[in-house]
Amino acid sequence: METNRGSFSRIGFILAAAGSAVGLGNLWKFPYTVGENGGGLFVVIYLLSVIAIAFPVLLAEVTLGRFTGKNPVGAFNAIKPGTPWKLVGYLGVASGFMILSFYSVVAGTTLGYFFKSVTGQFVNITPEIAEQTCDAFTSNPAFQLPLLALFIAITVFVVMRGVSGGIEKFSKILMPVLFGILILLLVRSLTLSGAAKGIEFYLKPDISALKPKLVLDAMGQAFFSLSLGMGTMITYGSYVSKRENLVTSAGWIASFDTGIALMAGFIIFPAIFSQGMNEAAGPDTMFNVLPVLFDKMPGGIFFGPLFFLLLSIAALTSTISILEVPVAYAVDERKWGRKKSAILIGSIACLIGVPAALSQGSVPFLADLPLLHISFMALWVQVWGVLSLSIGAFFIALFVGYAWKPGNALMEIRQGAGSLKAVSLWVFAVKYVSPLLILAILIGMFF
Ligand code: TRP
Repeated sequence: METNRGSFSRIGFILAAAGSAVGLGNLWKFPYTVGENGGGLFVVIYLLSVIAIAFPVLLAEVTLGRFTGKNPVGAFNAIKPGTPWKLVGYLGVASGFMILSFYSVVAGTTLGYFFKSVTGQFVNITPEIAEQTCDAFTSNPAFQLPLLALFIAITVFVVMRGVSGGIEKFSKILMPVLFGILILLLVRSLTLSGAAKGIEFYLKPDISALKPKLVLDAMGQAFFSLSLGMGTMITYGSYVSKRENLVTSAGWIASFDTGIALMAGFIIFPAIFSQGMNEAAGPDTMFNVLPVLFDKMPGGIFFGPLFFLLLSIAALTSTISILEVPVAYAVDERKWGRKKSAILIGSIACLIGVPAALSQGSVPFLADLPLLHISFMALWVQVWGVLSLSIGAFFIALFVGYAWKPGNALMEIRQGAGSLKAVSLWVFAVKYVSPLLILAILIGMFF
């Protein structure tokens, strides 16, 4: 089973899964969602969601994947053939198209910021100019559309080559270097005058900010950041060897991903408050703040371009994992070739990305949708990046907790894990905590 589909090497899985998890979700989406939701309280609820809701689902997904050795649709079908459970897999495949589309728009902008910084366009930049630059760049289709297409093309190229050849290699060097630059940014941001106000905003929970949407956003952020709820981790789990310890792997992935997100907040908020920028600037936030920060940093002229390049690659290891879901489905279930699947699915995602790209200012209708008064991009992030992942995660937890049964999952988990402690905690979480909290939070949206 492992040989003809390809599989990860031992350390390869942790690297690839961490590569999937760490990306724009941590550095772009997390800080601006914290900002829009008023700071510290969001962070607390996000952390609680990671531990109590998302981690149990992460372990459920990789276990399901490794046991069945299949894509999400195939995985549900293998355990409960001929039942509607496979619809959960189809929802994941559909989410794959949709998330890839808007994610690649932002990844394209990141790549664009690499070109801008490497050509010295951010030298002596002020906060006002940084904001104008971002607006001008994101609202210009002549930049956005080619970058979107380029980014998807690179993703397709890697996925075409299969998991061990393409996906593993990218994750190996990237993470340590990216981590190093984040430390530098952290030091610079924390030593700016007035940084403390940013820390206060970021860490001090303001209970009056509590709203159903904040809780949903926080939980959705936990799923998005850990690549959960659409079967990415099922698919990656399907390439994992039986010798691997799934529990410790999942622990590492979750800790690392959450650590990077928290770091991003410690970089962005002190800088925002110190420079008198807007903490609720939405998706532009990272692109407004970082050029200013690099400009104020010794060696920033070198670290800035390096950072945007590495972040583009981090985004690439994430888009690869998103595209891999529909591709694994097409290869396993439809018996298409890998190459044809990757090209076709990538092209469709690129087309869906066009309105998202144009909704950043070039087309007024898309930038401010009738009735909803949000942009097409914001709508797509909310529907596919938050709601659909939460629904997917809900059903994955239900499936493992009640249809497959935790006892069977535990037999799979025990392989490679040696003696297991605290497993009853996971069983309890997957049967009761995750599904009930997800349901409650989704229902909360109607009040
Ligand atoms: N987790 C990635 C990030 O934070 C994005 C991502 C990759 C993702 N695969 C996913 C999000 C699957 C949702 C579902 O950038």
